[in-house]
Amino acid sequence: MARVTNPFKIQGFQGREYFCDRETELQDLISHLLNDRNVVLHAWRRLGKTALLNLLKDEIEKTQKANVIYVDFLGSKTLNQANGKIINAVYQHFGTLKVKGIQKSLQELLASLGLAFSFNPITFLPEVETSIKSKKSSENTLNEIGKFLNNQENLTTLILDEFQEITKFNDVDAEPAFRFFAQTYPKVRIIFSGSERNLLKSMFTDKNRPFYKSTQLMGIEPIPLNLYNAFIQNHFGKKKITIKIISDIYSWARGQTYTIQLQCNRLFELNKSIEEADLHEIRESLLKQEAPVFANYSNLLSDGQFNLLKAIAKDEAVQNPQASEFLLSHNLGAASTVRSALKSLINKELVIKEANNYLVHDVLFARWLQRL
Ligand SMILES: Nc1ncnc2c1ncn2[C@@H]1O[C@H](COP(=O)(O)OP(=O)(O)OP(=O)(O)O)[C@@H](O)[C@H]1O
Ligand SMILES: [Mg+2]
Repeated sequence: MARVTNPFKIQGFQGREYFCDRETELQDLISHLLNDRNVVLHAWRRLGKTALLNLLKDEIEKTQKANVIYVDFLGSKTLNQANGKIINAVYQHFGTLKVKGIQKSLQELLASLGLAFSFNPITFLPEVETSIKSKKSSENTLNEIGKFLNNQENLTTLILDEFQEITKFNDVDAEPAFRFFAQTYPKVRIIFSGSERNLLKSMFTDKNRPFYKSTQLMGIEPIPLNLYNAFIQNHFGKKKITIKIISDIYSWARGQTYTIQLQCNRLFELNKSIEEADLHEIRESLLKQEAPVFANYSNLLSDGQFNLLKAIAKDEAVQNPQASEFLLSHNLGAASTVRSALKSLINKELVIKEANNYLVHDVLFARWLQRL
């Protein structure tokens, strides 16, 4: 039997045909870049920041003479390691360009840092040997990269995903280093993004921090239901899926892109017109699959925190978790204890405040907690 491609992707960006909407966000990002504005792209988890940034990369590379370099800082513990990721991405990008003199200037960059490249034994692609420490300090290494990019004929957009990780680096204070970098090279635009929204936002909005008011803040919201409806119906083709079922998918996911994609991916696999019973069945299976991870939170959190999390999930959205009605109906004890548990859940981003309501951040986790 020929394998049918499942059009509902649940990993990464796999091309525009599998991508729903985000036209306005894409144009907004492009216009920030064309007008020399650096951007912070922030949103709650799994709404599609990284996918949108990859769409942007794809779009710019297709339509403009500009370089786009995507780097993900997840897993980097030091500025030195983050520099290694940037150098590698720069090397991969420019190494493939047929620009006169580019190989020479790449070699000069590596030589000035005392780095070399070798072939990765698994992918056979050239890679900078970042295990060797650069001859220069981490801050100077970053600036050498800035100078290299600034010397190129075309503008470069550097996308730094999971940028909040720099606040955890244990070698140098990386915030001023990146702030200097962002201010110094006029041919380099930067998009900062990350999945820890509170941490990322406070870097750019706290007036005592280096990045205060230095960039445009841009949030992304759920994709509107009518656009998602058209996208889903289109991909289901002749197999019927009603607007009622799509609305149910959307609200169960609270409009979160990943959870919508996940449900559609499972439903598409059934290879038939969809009925409500199918939806219930795939949700059972999704929650069962995640259950061991979710259940472990009762060990990771105090009883008070776990009970509060469960109570918030059960009410779906809570305006005042310290109100006596809420405390009594969920048997949560004193308001002061709930206040400190709430603070801790917010710090961990397990609970978020959205439009004056407290919610359990992870939608699937909320759905699982609601069944306890
Ligand atoms: N516009 C879209 N159309 C279809 N699928 C999308 C869209 N945006 C994102 N996705 C899918 O949703 C999932 C989550 O997207 P992505 O990883 O970009 O989110 P994120 O906001 O970067 O998440 P995190 O907060 O974990 O970094 C991915 O599997 C991606 O394939
Ligand atoms: Mg992401």
